[in-house]
Parts: sequence; structure tokens; C-alpha cells
Amino acid sequence: MTEQLQEEKVFKDPVHRYVHVREKLIWDLINAREFQRLRRIRQLGTSYVTFHGAEHSRFNHSLGVYEIMRRILVQFSRRIDLPEEDKLLCLSAALLHDIGHGPFSHSFEKVFCTDHEQWTQRILVGDTEVNRILRQVSDDFPGKVAAVIGKTYENRLIISLVSSQIDADRMDYLLRDTYYTGTNYGSFDIERILRVLRPYDNRVVVKHSGMHAVEDYIVARYQMYWQVYFHPVTRSAEVILRKIFERVRWLYAKGYHFAKRPDHFISLFEGEIGLDDYLALDESVVLFYMGEWSKETDAILCDLCSRFMDRKLFKYVEHDERVANVEWKQEIDELFRSIGIDPAYYLGVDSPSDLPYDIYRAGEEDERLPIYLLMPDGSLEELSRRSDIVESISGKRRFDHKLYFPLDLLEDGTRNPAVVREIKQRLRIDGIVK
Ligand code: NI
Repeated sequence: MTEQLQEEKVFKDPVHRYVHVREKLIWDLINAREFQRLRRIRQLGTSYVTFHGAEHSRFNHSLGVYEIMRRILVQFSRRIDLPEEDKLLCLSAALLHDIGHGPFSHSFEKVFCTDHEQWTQRILVGDTEVNRILRQVSDDFPGKVAAVIGKTYENRLIISLVSSQIDADRMDYLLRDTYYTGTNYGSFDIERILRVLRPYDNRVVVKHSGMHAVEDYIVARYQMYWQVYFHPVTRSAEVILRKIFERVRWLYAKGYHFAKRPDHFISLFEGEIGLDDYLALDESVVLFYMGEWSKETDAILCDLCSRFMDRKLFKYVEHDERVANVEWKQEIDELFRSIGIDPAYYLGVDSPSDLPYDIYRAGEEDERLPIYLLMPDGSLEELSRRSDIVESISGKRRFDHKLYFPLDLLEDGTRNPAVVREIKQRLRIDGIVK
């Protein structure tokens, strides 16, 4: 069943040095067209406008998650006897966990209400190369991989290796995103962590002596969210991207005559997108359209696309308590309208708490299984009870509301100066715009 390659294949990897592939199944999955598509989807969406190194793809992240899983299984094989099929299941789920991501996922999913996890399931069980390869193991194997990724599989140990507070996915993306953004916030000692992970009943726990390494990992995660993933410049580009998708959809619905018709998006606009259409969407396609649409006669679409392509982003101010005030927002909208700027496209509120972030919070939700330390007497203790550092950042939800707008349009010299002054005053713009 576990056919091995005649010769081990290796990929050079800047984070793990090498990614080792021994099973033919894994090799075939990597070469499947749905997996190769991940080369054309960036791991960090629009972060490259802030951190120019962040051009890495979901392809190399997925290989990294696979490699971490492979190393965990090597460690575990000294302690428990996992059947070969379970090992293949772990490796396949690690490799394929992100296969359903679309281009610029965060903006894309918000506007079109798609869900990459659902697409992952559809790709695994649908009529795809990945599905045909997985079925060579057994007819129900694609369904098992889907169940592990969907967290419904019966063996909880396998699920917790793929997704938990300390899993192969998170360990890879923290290290990888740190490396490619050129920041240091996300680094931690993965070798040490892999050495102290232990299978225990149906979960993964950490040997007590590894507590400080895990503390480092938790703090790394906390730092990466606030310093990299929620960076306001990245989010500005995301706001513009969202507005572009909304404008195109609106123009299409109105019967606007596009110089470049949005062929790749039509089934999406009409709410009936199938697997093939979805798989044809990637970031090179989206960027191609963006270039074409920056030449459209529709002034808003043209302007937004040029902004995205040329990195002429929106500026932002802190939005704090005013976000809840509907009237305040309506008045600003009205002021924008009165000087010929459409607030639906040029005024964006963004709150990173909207994003699925998962800073360590012990016991908050079932899914976020807390990290347990395995004590010398064989008992388990929840991490934040032993670690003051983890305790201090557990259970504290932080919000960050910002208001995004094009300052250059307000200041282009064609707008009523009294209204512009009024807007600036209300937004408390002077001196604090970034
Ligand atoms: Ni991932």
C-alpha cells in the first residue's frame, strides 16, 4: 500500500533546509495540478506591499507543513505504533490542508462569501487529480483526508497533529513568514519543540521540560499577528482589493460594457461557480485583470486598480469608539458624497478582529484545545497555569479598528476646501495620518 520511491526526493527549503519525500503517494500529490496551482497563490496575500520579501507561496508552506509532520512522525514512531495508513493520512492531510485557498483569500472570501475550507473538501472528494491519486490508497481514503482536515475524523490524535494550538501548520507558517518578511518576531526553536512533543491518549502534549520553548512559540505567534499579519499597510491594500471586487461585481450586474470582460469571475458573480472555474482562479489571473481594468472607462474601477498595481494605497486613522456610531459614519459618508467621492468605494472600515486569528486562549473554545504539559509524575497540566508569560497573554482579545481613505483625492485641489477641512477635522486627520 505504501509504495516507496526508488530514490528519495528532496526539495531545498530555506526554512527546513530539506524537505524529504519517500512515498510515491506524496510525490504524486505534489505533482498534481491542483497542488501545483498553489505556486500561484501567495501565502500572505497582500503582505508583500509592506514586506517586499513576502512573495512566498502556499506551495512552499504546504511542503513545509508536510516536512514538519514527517519529522513528528519519526519522533512518535519511537513511542507509539502508528499503522502505515495513519501515517500516510497524516502526511497527506498536512500536505493538502491549504489546497482550497483562492487568490488573495481574505479579501476574496469576504466579498464572494466563499470558504477555502469547503473548497479543500470539494477538491479532495471531487473529480480532481488529487482525488484520483488519493483513491489509489483506498476508495475511502480521500474522505478520510477530508475528515482529518475538517476535524471530524475519529482519531483525535491525528487531527491534533494537523490542527491544534501547536500543530505542523502553525509551526511552519510562523517560521516561514518570519523568514520571508525578514522580521524576527516569529522565530522559535522548532527542533526543541519537536523533541518534546509526546503522543498521550488522543492528543499531543508537551514534556514539561519543553515549557520555555513553547512559551517562545506562543509569544512568536502573538508578535506575528500584531506586527505582520495585521499590519495596517497590508490591510490598506486588502481594503482596496475588496473594493475592486465589489465594483466589478456591481458593474457586471448593471450591464456595464467592459473593455476586458471579467470572464473568469462570471460564474462567481452568478453564484454558481464549479470546481474547474474555481481552480482556474489564481493570483496571476487576478493581477492580469487588474492591469486590464486599470484602463477601463469606469473611473472608480480604473482608479482602484491603478492604486493596487502602483501601490498608491489608502491612508488610515485610528477608528476606535467611533466605529460603533452609525450616525457619525453617515455624516462622513455624506460629506464625501458632497465633494464627489463615493464613500462606498473610498471609505473603508477595517477591524482585524474580523480575521480568524488564534492567539493562544486556553479553554475558550472546544476547537482550541489548550496545550498540556506532561509533568514528571505523569499528570497533565494546562500550560498557562505553569507559565506566567503565557498566562499574561491568554484570554485577552485585542481589537484594532481603522478607517481607510484616499487622502490624495481629498487634497487634489478640485474639492470644496471648506468640506475637505470639515472632513479632516472630523477624522482628526491633521498630523496623525499614516
Ligand atoms: Ni496552512
